[in-house]
Amino acid sequence: MGAEEGIWQQHTFPDKEISIRILSDIKNKPVIIFDSLHNPNAKMIPLIFLAETAKALGASQVGLVAPYLSYMRQDIAFNAGEGVSAKHFSKLISSYFDWMITIEPHLHRIHHLSEVYTIPALSIHAGSVLSDWINHHVDSPILIGPDSESEQWVSSVSEKCHFPYVVLNKIRTGDKSVSISIDSISGDKNHTPVLVDDIISSGRTMVEVVRQLNEKGTKLPVCLGVHGLFSDDCMSTFDKVKYKDIITCNTIEHPSNAIDVDCLLKESSEKMIKEVG
Ligand code: R5P
Repeated sequence: MGAEEGIWQQHTFPDKEISIRILSDIKNKPVIIFDSLHNPNAKMIPLIFLAETAKALGASQVGLVAPYLSYMRQDIAFNAGEGVSAKHFSKLISSYFDWMITIEPHLHRIHHLSEVYTIPALSIHAGSVLSDWINHHVDSPILIGPDSESEQWVSSVSEKCHFPYVVLNKIRTGDKSVSISIDSISGDKNHTPVLVDDIISSGRTMVEVVRQLNEKGTKLPVCLGVHGLFSDDCMSTFDKVKYKDIITCNTIEHPSNAIDVDCLLKESSEKMIKEVG
């Protein structure tokens, strides 16, 4: 973007309270705070204080670029008495930022960010970069969406390069347990299965599909996730199955990052700065 990289400091006091100091001159300049929001709870206080400090120092606008946006999967009260975290979180972000940009934010029961964000909020699709990667790295792919939510990602990737795809049914039975039927997939040895999902968190969704593909004797599958959270014991569950590769976008830093989304963020940020002006 040709933007200056801002310099700021966070000081932690003995009692664990923090203070934020911005050293760059930001008066009358648009400020972008870039922070992927995995592990969001620990990040929120510094993030809010940084945005508020920028405003107090005269920034002309303060935008948030969050390549991964947390809390979007809790988009409904699943149990009586439960809060809808997606709404609470969006209220918080909307209170402190002038705009927000993210990539594939798990829009499912919430269809558009504007349903919960009161600031201009843009959701960027990763379909083009995913399909480019598959096109260049996988011979004769067949795309597999592990659950009904994934149809939006799988179909958009498939549309770009005309890859065949199937969408499976998943029932989540716990944080780390899922039941998925892969009856609609044959033991075809001509195609390489490419599992496409927005998030790899506990890894149980991907691993359960891979386990059953291994049983069917298909080619070794490629696991493609937009956001690789790889929570807790995720990687050790992948050790129990046979796969060709695990590939993610660089929305969250991880050794599996092979798909660059920087160009998508750059273009959108430039556009948003002009629009919010
Ligand atoms: C579900 O709604 C998402 O699209 C992903 O399928 C899910 O977050 C994957 O979670 P896990 O890796 O824990 O199975």
